[in-house]
Amino acid sequence: MLHPGAPVVISQPRNHFPIAAGQGRHLLLAGGIGVTPLIAMGHELSRANRPFELYYKARTRRQAAFISELEAVPWRSRVHFHFSDENRLDISSVLAGYAEGDHVYTCGPAAFMDTVFEAATALGWPEDALHREYFSVPDEPERENHDFEIEIASTRQRIAVPANLKATEALKQAGISIVVKCSDGLCGTCSTRYLSGDVEHRDYVLSKSQRDQRMILCCSRAKAAGGRITLDL
Ligand code: FES
Repeated sequence: MLHPGAPVVISQPRNHFPIAAGQGRHLLLAGGIGVTPLIAMGHELSRANRPFELYYKARTRRQAAFISELEAVPWRSRVHFHFSDENRLDISSVLAGYAEGDHVYTCGPAAFMDTVFEAATALGWPEDALHREYFSVPDEPERENHDFEIEIASTRQRIAVPANLKATEALKQAGISIVVKCSDGLCGTCSTRYLSGDVEHRDYVLSKSQRDQRMILCCSRAKAAGGRITLDL
């Protein structure tokens, strides 16, 4: 539908992978093209004069994206290239020596990010210090969907969510529109505050502490059949 000169409506970008507050080190670990958001973070951390290092793992130098851009950044001394065929990345030594206020950020294939998180956890990094961004839906475990119910806190309206519908779809049928973008629990657009209920979180975007208050309506559901979740709407 696009052609030169066609007006395009855009909204403000949302950042679901922000840099944490704190005075410690920020370690950015990229797997392949997952380096993309971490380059932006490197620029931001450099501008703010905060301590950081970027480790970029790829199969070969020839296949890796953004090499020439990273060779030219003003913070080049903080960039560490690791190619499987010349200089393998030793994740555990990169993550050694955790101190309070340190944060690690990773983006890349799910298996790479899992390895980073597992190594960090084994080395004593707390969950709140670990951040990741998925760019595709990882393999999902088999899950059973139950019927459940949503209550709208402001009106007390109750909406049944049958097992074959997502919460966003049931809400839409009831005339309540929730903005949805990815529909896969990756982007965070449909994140909504809930006030009560046992939620089975199935998203890839909320942190553990965010899950205490928010749920991703395009994929998360009540934990048990017949459960009720009250949304702060
Ligand atoms: S629409 Fe992307 S997380 Fe729900």
